[in-house]
Formats: sequence, structure tokens, C-alpha cells
Amino acid sequence: MTDSITIALSKGRILKETLPLLKEAGIELLDDIEKSRKLVFPTTDPNVRVLIIRATDVPTYVQYGGADLGVTGKDVLMEHGGEGLYEPLDLNIARCRLMTAGPKDRQPPQGRLRVATKFVNLARRYYSSQGRQADIIKLYGAMELAPILGLADEIVDIVDTGNTLKANGLEPRELIEHISTRLVANRASMKMKHQLLHPIIEKMGVAVERRR
Ligand code: ADP
Ligand code: PRP
Ligand code: MG
Repeated sequence: MTDSITIALSKGRILKETLPLLKEAGIELLDDIEKSRKLVFPTTDPNVRVLIIRATDVPTYVQYGGADLGVTGKDVLMEHGGEGLYEPLDLNIARCRLMTAGPKDRQPPQGRLRVATKFVNLARRYYSSQGRQADIIKLYGAMELAPILGLADEIVDIVDTGNTLKANGLEPRELIEHISTRLVANRASMKMKHQLLHPIIEKMGVAVERRR
């Protein structure tokens, strides 16, 4: 369908901050997302529907054209690899840092490092770019536990206030990347549906600039 578009939004902490930006682009959900069990939502624009899915699934839906546009974290995009995606806009929300962290006052060991993270691809690339040998252990959350329980020497995770690290006896080590939420677009849609996508990207861009 070249006359309608689908936008994939991340549920969780990004969602609440994304909706006002979409609203300024003339797109509002018709249902109350707090109450609804729907995954696909109609909007005030009859040509636009919205999916609300896991942040980590957003790049995949957009890559394969299940959605034309998507909203997700730069961390998630780096882990995915960004294949088939354009990244037309930095939404400047959910700003945080992607860092390595380890037990307070303990030097990382020389030689092979054990690293626990949910960002396995990204971590592999990072340590290899630093010329460090690393065994990566995949976790799905609560990475901060891994060094405490002797699973790993270091973690790669999101840091905002640093409170989670501190509360678990860890400290930040190296900054890997500054992170914020991005608008992504399917490469084919960008060409085929330019007429529909362009005004949305433009208006969301204006909304972002107004908040700076
Ligand atoms: P998940 O269930 O994947 O952890 P979240 O809603 O917690 O989903 O996080 C979504 C995105 O928000 C992350 O991909 C990251 O870009 C950003 N983020 C995660 N944690 C924080 C934080 N503590 N402060 C600010 N931004 C964060
Ligand atoms: C995120 C991230 C860190 C924490 C960092 O976790 O994975 O654990 O926030 O924030 P801070 O530096 O301000 O403490 P989140 O709350 O999203 O939990 P989850 O992703 O593990 O569910
Ligand atoms: Mg989280």
C-alpha cells in the first residue's frame, strides 16, 4: 500500500515522550493505550496506523517493511546493525550513555575479559576496536548482577544517573557512545512513499527543535 503508512513505536520509557512529537505531526492515537490490549492502533490520520512493540523489535519491523517508520534507541540500532534503515531524525529524548562498567576500585584483568551484556554485537565490535580480547555473555536484563556474582569482569549497559551502578557496587569505566532516541525509516518506503513520509519527518523535526 503506497497510500498509507505504518509507524512502529517502542513501548516502555520512550513511548510517553514520543506521543507529543507525533501529535505535533498531526498524528494522535484514537485509543487509550493504557487500557487497550491492541498492538495496532488507528490514528487521527486515516492514512497512518501505529504499532506499539518492544524497542528491540522496532528495527526489524522497519527493516523488513512491516513498518515504514520506527522510533527506538540508538543503542538498539547499533546492536541491530542498521541494515535497510535510514535514520532521518534524532528525537533527542531518553538521552543516556552506553558504557562499560565494573566493580568499584577493581582494575579490569589483563588479557581476556568476560563481559556480560544484552548488547552482544555492539560489545563484540567495541572490544575488538579497542584491541581487547573479550568473551561476551548474553543477558536479557539486570546486567549489574553479573560482576557481583562472578559471572563477568565487566558489563556493557546504559547509564543515566549512575544510580543503578552505584547501588550495586559498580562504577562506570569507558564511554562507548552517547545515546538518544532516533526516528528510522525503511529505505524502500523512503523512496516509494516519500510524499507521505516527508511531511511527518519534517513536522517531527520542528517539534524536536522547539524543545531544544
Ligand atoms: P528495555 O525494556 O528495552 O530496557 P526501556 O524502555 O527501558 O526498554 O528503554 C528504551 C530505550 O531508552 C533504550 O533503548 C535506551 O535508548 C533508553 N534508555 C534505557 N534506559 C535509560 C535510562 N535509564 N535513562 C534514559 N534512557 C534510557
Ligand atoms: C536501565 C539500564 C540501567 C539503568 C540506568 O534499566 O539498563 O540498568 O536504566 O539508569 P541509571 O543510571 O539512571 O540508574 P531499566 O530501568 O530500563 O530496567 P530494565 O531495562 O532492566 O528493565
Ligand atoms: Mg530498560
